[in-house]
Amino acid sequence: MSGPVTSTWDAARLAAWSASHLRNVEAALSRWVGVDAPVLLGDAMRYAVLDGGKRLRPLLVLAASEAVGGNGAAALRAACATELIHAYSLVHDDLPCMDNDVLRRGKPTVHVKFGEADALLAGDALQALAFELLTPEGDDVPAAMQARLCRLLASAAGSQGMAGGQAIDLASVGLALDEAQLREMHRLKTGALLQGSVEMGAVCSATVAPATLAALRDYGGAIGLAFQVIDDILDVTADSETLGKTAGKDAASDKPTYVSLLGLDGARAQAHRLLAEALAALERSALADTAALRALAYMVVDRDR
Ligand code: IPE
Ligand code: IPE
Ligand code: MG
Ligand code: MG
Ligand code: MG
Repeated sequence: MSGPVTSTWDAARLAAWSASHLRNVEAALSRWVGVDAPVLLGDAMRYAVLDGGKRLRPLLVLAASEAVGGNGAAALRAACATELIHAYSLVHDDLPCMDNDVLRRGKPTVHVKFGEADALLAGDALQALAFELLTPEGDDVPAAMQARLCRLLASAAGSQGMAGGQAIDLASVGLALDEAQLREMHRLKTGALLQGSVEMGAVCSATVAPATLAALRDYGGAIGLAFQVIDDILDVTADSETLGKTAGKDAASDKPTYVSLLGLDGARAQAHRLLAEALAALERSALADTAALRALAYMVVDRDR
């Protein structure tokens, strides 16, 4: 059996690919977020979303869509929508009632800058805007594709996804979770939206084969979990300036993490196992060109912030 055509991108090739795609994403976000919102709400929304973040979720949407030959207008909207859900999750994650963080993306958190009420509302409004972006009038994005994208994003964000995982996270402070419990928490709170981003990119083609979609779902699940394992590691090994958020918070807050469970070396080994799983899933996808998805998987595990 002949395998897919794969090339291995170096960091410069990925950076160039990302920069060209993110120009469109940044311009679209700036055009769509918080415009005409009353009083301080628009400022808080724009502060939460613009000018910061690695934009991994949009890049996953765009890479998956490109790999399947997807609808570009749909992919750009899906890329922005997933980033809006992510940005909203960060605003709420940082609130005093959750992780009580004061630094995010190198700036004071939204509630520190605008107050808790506006932070709560900015998160609410970003979530709503995500679904508005996925449902444009006109013919650019077929109705069935819009519905599929909404369903994927809703389930990634909701009680079976990010919000459910955050509930487990808050209920787990001070507990020693076993590996299965920790995996489930991380899979939901972080993995689901990353996996959903890949799936959203894939369904930007109405004709993506079920086996390809299943392989991409597996890829997304593996890198989604790996991403949070690395987040746990960086919380211990990196400094606040590099991260743009307060380092050392997990131990200070007595959160169970892959580092607290397996130690640093064990957590790193786990991340590399997940990387191998992700790459194997791409091999199964039968896609001709998975270079961007491969490079993003390596980036998730090799990143330093
Ligand atoms: C941080 O996500 C929160 C987690 C889900 C672990 P990112 O590390 O992607 O944050 P930004 O978007 O780059 O700021
Ligand atoms: C956050 O996990 C996951 C979200 C859904 C936002 P963390 O609480 O570990 O994320 P950071 O470390 O604050 O970015
Ligand atoms: Mg948290
Ligand atoms: Mg947090
Ligand atoms: Mg963290």
